[in-house]
Amino acid sequence: MNSKLELTPLTASIGALAHGIDISSELRLDEVKEIESAMDRFAVLVFRDQLLDQDQQIRFAKNFGPLDTGLRKLRRGTHRFAYNELADISNVTAEGQVAERSHSRIVSNVANQLWHSDSSFQQVRAKYSMLSAHVVPQFGGDTEFADLRAAYDELPDWRKTKIDNLVGVHSSLHSRFLLGDTGYDEAQKTAIAPARWPLVQTDPRSGRRCLYVGHHICEIEGMTLPEGRMLAMDLIEHATQRQFVYQHKWRVGDLVMWDNTATLHRGKWYDFAERRELRRATTEEVVRSSEAARLQQELELAQ
Ligand code: OGA
Ligand code: MN
Repeated sequence: MNSKLELTPLTASIGALAHGIDISSELRLDEVKEIESAMDRFAVLVFRDQLLDQDQQIRFAKNFGPLDTGLRKLRRGTHRFAYNELADISNVTAEGQVAERSHSRIVSNVANQLWHSDSSFQQVRAKYSMLSAHVVPQFGGDTEFADLRAAYDELPDWRKTKIDNLVGVHSSLHSRFLLGDTGYDEAQKTAIAPARWPLVQTDPRSGRRCLYVGHHICEIEGMTLPEGRMLAMDLIEHATQRQFVYQHKWRVGDLVMWDNTATLHRGKWYDFAERRELRRATTEEVVRSSEAARLQQELELAQ
């Protein structure tokens, strides 16, 4: 097969600039496979100068699996996109104005500044997120990505042994509660049942072990809440050390694709009075039955 995708690594382990494939047009299967293999290796790919419209972004994303709607499941009200599957990652209201500071969109921006993996609070969880930049602020507003594979590899052996059989409980509103954003009713709180995931898991595609943590974890099974939450915070701190992180500085027309089961990410501060508009499409993780069996086994081992 002729390789079309040219990859320039961005750090020692995570992230690569990807050239050579026009992602705004329909992809052939071999191009999709090339992108997937590059994702297995780098976990984050940066496509530059490819400003996709809504249809193009949805078409691109659908190559990699069914699309996720994430927290939109518990949101009410309108949005400005033609697709429920496009998340409005901006500080702009449905009417197109920069939102007031108390607006839920700003709260979402703040919550995105906590290290997380998209939709880890769901069964089925997210695999790839594809974020396209349309308006970027003058200062700040970078996005950082941390490599959960390198983070696992670099854990001391005693730590690996201690956490090997633990399960994290991920809950959709936990990171909001951490920020004091608690104004949700029962229907919203229970709309998405918490999801259980092993802290340590083997990526079925790359075969690498990952430290699957993040601020959606509200509890570690078998531990008291304080001990479990402290452990989760400690592991997040470990996983997000500089040597595991790629920091992306946005340009209009960038599309960054990341693997949510192999990385954590967070937005960085920017002035919410300035416009910042990005659009995200996200795939659900598609697990082949043999791989599902392995994940199930990892969960059972952890009981
Ligand atoms: C996201 C996200 C961070 C950012 O789109 O899922 O967390 O920098 N974005 O906007
Ligand atoms: Mn996110």
